[in-house]
Parts: sequence; structure tokens; C-alpha cells
Amino acid sequence: MQENPPILRTSLCRYGMEALAHAEKLVREGQPVAIPTETVYGLAANALDSDAVARIYAAKGRPSFNPLIVHVSGMEMAERLAHFDDLATRLTERFWPGPLTLIVPVREDSGLSPLVMAGLSTVALRMPAHRAMQALIDRTGLPLAAPSANRSGAISPTTAEHVLRSLEGRIPLIIDDGATERGLESTIAAPAGGQIRLLRPGPITADMLTEATGVPVVMGGGEKIEAPGQMESHYAPSKPVRLNAAQAQTGEYMIGFGDVAGDISLSETADLEEAATSLFAALHIADASSAPRIAIAPVPAEGIGAAINDRLRRAAA
Ligand code: TXA
Ligand code: MG
Repeated sequence: MQENPPILRTSLCRYGMEALAHAEKLVREGQPVAIPTETVYGLAANALDSDAVARIYAAKGRPSFNPLIVHVSGMEMAERLAHFDDLATRLTERFWPGPLTLIVPVREDSGLSPLVMAGLSTVALRMPAHRAMQALIDRTGLPLAAPSANRSGAISPTTAEHVLRSLEGRIPLIIDDGATERGLESTIAAPAGGQIRLLRPGPITADMLTEATGVPVVMGGGEKIEAPGQMESHYAPSKPVRLNAAQAQTGEYMIGFGDVAGDISLSETADLEEAATSLFAALHIADASSAPRIAIAPVPAEGIGAAINDRLRRAAA
């Protein structure tokens, strides 16, 4: 863990030219700013500047062995940072901009802060499909390192309000552009040696990766922690979570799905896309409720349901 960062006044600004100008100035000064992507809100800083990257780790209280995703706004920028083989290139053509992070070999002359990779020879790159993050990368001309904008291990933020609750006083600026569209972090995939390893399930499913490339997808990582978003306890509320609940027991705040009713529902019509979008907001609401425990209805593991169940398991761990 890092030391506590100095206490800052956190401004909350509606997305627009003024907010972007403010964010650009802060990023150029090496400060991190919270800004939405289509998945979750990110805490973005200049990926070429080690002081700036260190401020991300400090604001989140994130262990420094957990590497960061670098966000780019175009292929030219991506290719200055890393090597793309045929398979990686095909994935970018099919899914960028969008919620797919690719693990690719970092270029020796990338200029990236070594803190971003945390000692690995690969870098995680993603081209987000969101006007705010794209505009900030374009205005600064910089690749931006950005983890989710929450305290390490806590529930990811899908609104500016979630960011404020988690990071107020620890960062100078939050740009508010409403609730995020996808609601779950990007899929993390490592294309190499003619196969694709899925390191973190997300909105781009294994079936979509295979369908786009004709290449098999294998689950999970290598020997060491490769995507410690994969650390067991993560996305965790402050109280116990019970999964696959058919109904609430005494003292539980119940999160329903489909026919299983609750205090709130991820999707009353059992729509998995809707459940993905509302999952973290539901966990935030349940966590803030007066109930001492949380129960969650079963959610089928098909399609994006695999990513939902991955996050639920870690929330309960
Ligand atoms: O949707 C997202 O991906 C969001 C938004 C802000 O873009 N970002 C995000 O970042 O979820 P974060 O830091 O919460 O998750 C990054 C994950 C971590 O699990 C980390 O271990 C993994 O990416 N990662 C980073 N570099 C890696 C590498 N070289 N090899 C394997 N995994 C890596
Ligand atoms: Mg995170």
C-alpha cells in the first residue's frame, strides 16, 4: 500500500469544454482526474510520467504490483507503445474502440512509465468508446493510464457520485458525464501464440472473440498474478454477500433478478445486458442500506452473465 495522498479539494464538473480544459491542465501537471469510459469511471493520468502514475496508486491505495491499463485514442498511438501481431491487429479492427483490453508486448522505446507495467514485459492497452475519455486523450496527445476510479478492492464506480464517495479529498477533479453504458470493466485478453487467453471476462465474451477470429479462447492466466482484478476479493461491499439466494433471510438487503424479487432488481425482465449495466450501482445501494448483509439472486452464466458471475464471486469472497 502507498502512503496517504495529501488532502485535496475535489471538484465535480459536468462534461463540456470547460471541464475538459481543466482536466487537460491537470493531466499536463501530472495529476490524475476521474473521467468516464463506456465501462466504468477511470482515474486517468499521463502514462509517460512516473510521478503521475504514482499518484494514481496513492489515490486508490492500490498495491504497486498490480499493473494499469493504458488508454489510447488511435492505432498510431497504440503502435508507438506496443507490438501488434496479426491476431492482435484483427482484434483491434473488430473491437476497438470498445470494451476490450489487449495484453501485448511493450516496445522498448514506448516511453511508458515502468510503474504502469509493474515489471511485466507486456502492457494492457485499450481504446475506449466514450467521448470524454477520447477527448482527453486527443487534447493532451498522451496515452492515459487509468484504473477504475475507486479505492482499491472496493466496488467499481459507474457514476460520478460513486467516484466522489470513494475518492473525495484524494483527487482534484471528477468529470460527470452520467452513468456508464456497459457497467462492467473491459474484457482483458492476451492474444499470443495463435490463441487468446481470457484474463478477465467482460462485455466482449469468449464466444465473440472466437467468432471474430476463428481462434480458440482459453480461460485464465499464467503462473503469477497477471490480472489482479483477478485477486480473489475485489469489487467488494463492506458487508457479507450471499450468492444464489432464492429469497432474503432476516437482515439481508436482497438484490433480485428476473422472477426472483428483491428490494431492487438487476433486471426484472431477466435481461443480462441490463443486469451488467446495473450491477455495481445495485451493490453500491445495498452497501449503503441499513441492512447488515446482502443477498443476490442467481444470474445465468451465459453471454455477459459470465462476467457478472465473475464480479459477484469476487464481491462475495
Ligand atoms: O474497463 C476497464 O478496463 C476500466 C476502465 C477505466 O478502462 N479499467 C480497469 O482498470 O478496470 P483496472 O486497473 O481496475 O484493471 C486493470 C486490470 C488489472 O486486473 C491488471 O492486473 C490487468 O488489468 N493488467 C494490467 N496490465 C496487465 C498486463 N501487462 N498483463 C496482464 N494483466 C494486466
Ligand atoms: Mg478496478
